[in-house]
Amino acid sequence: MKNIRNFCIIAHIDHGKSTLADRLLEYTNTVSGKDLQAQTLDSMDLERERGITIKSKAIQMQYEYQSEKYTLNLIDTPGHVDFAYEVSRSIAACEGALLIVDATQGIQAQTISNLYQAVDHDLTIIPILNKMDMPNAMPEEVEDQIIDLIGCDRSEIIHASGKTGMGIDKILETIVEIVPAPKGDPEAPLQGLIFDSVFNSFRGIIAYFKVVNGSIKKGDLVKFVNTGKEYYADEVGILGLDLVPRGELKTGDVGYIISGIKTSKEVKVGDTITHVKRPCAKAIAGFEEVKPMVFAGVYPIDTEDYEDLRASIEKLQLNDASLTFQPESSAALGFGFRCGFLGLLHMEIVQERLDREFDMDVITTVPNVPYIAYTKKGEKIEVHNPSGLPDPGLIDYVEEPYISAQIISHSDYIGNLMSLCLGKRGELVKQHYLTTDRVELVFDMPLAEIVFDFYDKLKSISKGYASFDYHTTGFRLSKLVKLDILLNGENVDALSALTHFDNAYGMGKRMCEKLKELIPRQQFDVAIQAAIGSKIISRETVKALRKDVTAKCYGGDISRKRKLLEKQKKGKKRMKQVGNVEVPQKAFLAVLKLD
Ligand code: GTP
Repeated sequence: MKNIRNFCIIAHIDHGKSTLADRLLEYTNTVSGKDLQAQTLDSMDLERERGITIKSKAIQMQYEYQSEKYTLNLIDTPGHVDFAYEVSRSIAACEGALLIVDATQGIQAQTISNLYQAVDHDLTIIPILNKMDMPNAMPEEVEDQIIDLIGCDRSEIIHASGKTGMGIDKILETIVEIVPAPKGDPEAPLQGLIFDSVFNSFRGIIAYFKVVNGSIKKGDLVKFVNTGKEYYADEVGILGLDLVPRGELKTGDVGYIISGIKTSKEVKVGDTITHVKRPCAKAIAGFEEVKPMVFAGVYPIDTEDYEDLRASIEKLQLNDASLTFQPESSAALGFGFRCGFLGLLHMEIVQERLDREFDMDVITTVPNVPYIAYTKKGEKIEVHNPSGLPDPGLIDYVEEPYISAQIISHSDYIGNLMSLCLGKRGELVKQHYLTTDRVELVFDMPLAEIVFDFYDKLKSISKGYASFDYHTTGFRLSKLVKLDILLNGENVDALSALTHFDNAYGMGKRMCEKLKELIPRQQFDVAIQAAIGSKIISRETVKALRKDVTAKCYGGDISRKRKLLEKQKKGKKRMKQVGNVEVPQKAFLAVLKLD
């Protein structure tokens, strides 16, 4: 145990975490340079393309230092705010963290929010200035930021480059020297902390865990404390490039367990593994049930594809426990599912996987956050869909989720950022200068406000330089109304949105304008109206136009005529018939792109 070091890497997206991890693997001969696919730790195609690590993993390295052999476990952390809880569990399994900061960029929002978590868990922090090979590196300035943030000595900051290999030896030595060996009691009842799990179509669920106390042997009967389920440990082992089976895992080890579990829902990140015969007194602290924070309707474009869509979503859920779904129907869109996602990125990923892996053509409705409605009768109703909001007359009050949002930017943009966030119902909680021209702003904000066009605005007003991170903080009272959209007098439920009373009029007006742009002219006038309850607050009209696609075929050629009609039909596939109006798919997401 005294020669084990468990550590993770904290870095903002693109600061070079994966590249540096590759160098560590190479230097310790865990992989040879030749086998090393760029960025070993990112495995899914999609991750590679997006350049973000979606599922955290772990890998073991052997390292010899001053004639002693050490086992180094690198626990990878997902790089996006949607997966914050997984990050927190990975951090909880470590004793040390490499804090990687891009020397050309400086400290960004994600660096700080993950660092705070690492400090909360008493991790030993090793500060690293990465990308020092680049001519535009600003070592002194970024060092100042790091010193201000963690209060270390300038000499403790390691200069490195994942590209040239500079500093890699120093990083490994420092890990051995200053990261403490895992504590824990080898004789105590087993306590294993699950920090990740993956689905394998042959072997079922593989859960990654750290043995915090005690030990576990192949064949042991174990219990997952929070789910209460019992399993035999069919296989336990350590994580090299592949799974390496072992007879036993001891205190401080990081490894995996395979126990015949078929779906990801049965294994919860943060849960504790213990023995059935000699259980631990209590579960490891910090377990949370991750809850979806963004909901959207997912509908097949072709109603006949409903069952296929169900099968596809079920398959996706096998390896993505954070995806939830239940059937719903919409007057406008027919039968589909209301899916719950961790956040917007997670939603995009699911949409993309449905398309790529399952070839499903779907319409996704405007996403919304979960609301809690308290009725006058004292009932508490969780609302995942605007149309599920009880009748206004029955509601006592409604609560919506709030976040703590962290923004780091050049101080030139403070004014713009303030007006953006205040306009989004944000309240400034903290303003802190990291250096003379870099500032950290913290706002309390409704989550719903960042679901709509927040990132784009943030990037454009800060010329792409502001970085942003958030975590949810709980529910707060809110004055919400339901905004309905009517097309030729018919309420299109899939376009309804819940919005704050103060924003409702502006939003209704802009939605009508946007829909007018998006709905093509048809053979009759289309009236677009926004309404709150029975009150119409805005109206636009799409004027009628008779579009005869065959007009240019000069009568004669029937096959050409048919081809054109065929083509038009295909174009229509991306349309949904709502009452007598053809609505393009884009329109259902119109509200996301309101100016
Ligand atoms: P996420 O997985 O998205 O969080 O990114 P990451 O932090 O793992 O960054 P990644 O290793 O993918 O590197 C981001 C980009 O920076 C890639 O284009 C790398 O080639 C480049 N890069 C990484 N490290 C260095 C370095 O030390 N020097 C230079 N010049 N480029 C680097």
